[in-house]
Amino acid sequence: MSIQERKKDHVDLCVNEDVNYSGSAGFEQYQFRHNALPELNLEDISTETSLLGRSFSFPLFLSSMTGGYTDAGQINAQIARFCEKNNLPFGVGSQRALLDHPEEINSFSVVRNEAPTAFIAANIGGAQIAGGLTDDQLEVLIESIQADAIIVHLNPLQELVQPEGDRAFRGIESGIRKLVIDADLPIIVKETGAGITGEVARRLLAAGVSVIDVAGSGGTSWAKVENLRKADRTETDFLNDWGMPTTKCLEEVALLREEFRFELISSGGLRTASDIMKSFALGANFTAMAGPVIRALVNGGEDELQKFLNRLKEQLKQICLLLGRRAPAQCSHRDLIKK
Ligand SMILES: Cc1cc2nc3c(=O)[nH]c(=O)nc-3n(C[C@H](O)[C@H](O)[C@H](O)COP(=O)(O)O)c2cc1C
Repeated sequence: MSIQERKKDHVDLCVNEDVNYSGSAGFEQYQFRHNALPELNLEDISTETSLLGRSFSFPLFLSSMTGGYTDAGQINAQIARFCEKNNLPFGVGSQRALLDHPEEINSFSVVRNEAPTAFIAANIGGAQIAGGLTDDQLEVLIESIQADAIIVHLNPLQELVQPEGDRAFRGIESGIRKLVIDADLPIIVKETGAGITGEVARRLLAAGVSVIDVAGSGGTSWAKVENLRKADRTETDFLNDWGMPTTKCLEEVALLREEFRFELISSGGLRTASDIMKSFALGANFTAMAGPVIRALVNGGEDELQKFLNRLKEQLKQICLLLGRRAPAQCSHRDLIKK
């Protein structure tokens, strides 16, 4: 199967099938500490939040998803227009397809045409940078979208379940270290839903990474997605629920703030405004979503995505008010009670 067909399958399966982990991301284990005397008006509350020195209207990164085949260009264009209009950051899907098939450049470059001022992140897999990218390859990743940052995704689980996936994972850590030196842009490292633990994050931060996006378990299960593509999945479906829940990753990685300066994105199974606010209370300073974004977009277009964002915005403001916080970034562990 070609890489283009695989990418199309991924979107179709994430929209039409139940590909969520059976276990949760863990947000239900916490409840907010109600503030009966907030001394704020609803209009005092702002959802504006910064990441990597840029200010955004709402703390939501639209996670890396697609590119590399014709229809992906349309999805990327819609996401780009939406993010330009709403001042939100987003990432394109893996640009491996672009390195292998330069003719697919339009499905990526369209994002800069549609979003001339938005914050856009490039995306490449850890396995692709294990041996180090050449200068030319790095230039293609960055220049095709005039990237503001580079995301490296770590996905050994997905690769193992994918029949045509990579089996070699040595050298990724040194590849990341080299990328930090070679690229003149901040490096974000994310998982794709199985989570980044405290120990892995410490190695990444020691390598010079600026942002960790934990992308933990509880949302889209990439083992499930890949198993659905296989005729015989009996050998690998035991991995469908493999992963570290997002809340557990946040608890571990946030502790590294004592040792390193970095920013922390919470993602993997975030679906509601409560999940966003609980992420802040657990130490994140931004959040991200993939599954809900692609489903809203494919099922209802940009209007549906706008409604989804508007609802999240209103609800996040109400939660801020009930905690007595003017902005999500003011929220802390004191605002949560573990049930
Ligand atoms: C259709 C689809 C395609 C994806 N493709 C990529 C990709 O190319 N690169 C990447 O880093 N992550 C990719 N992801 C993973 C997401 O960025 C995210 O980490 C993961 O889905 C967990 O978030 P969620 O539970 O909100 O979906 C993809 C997700 C979806 C739904």
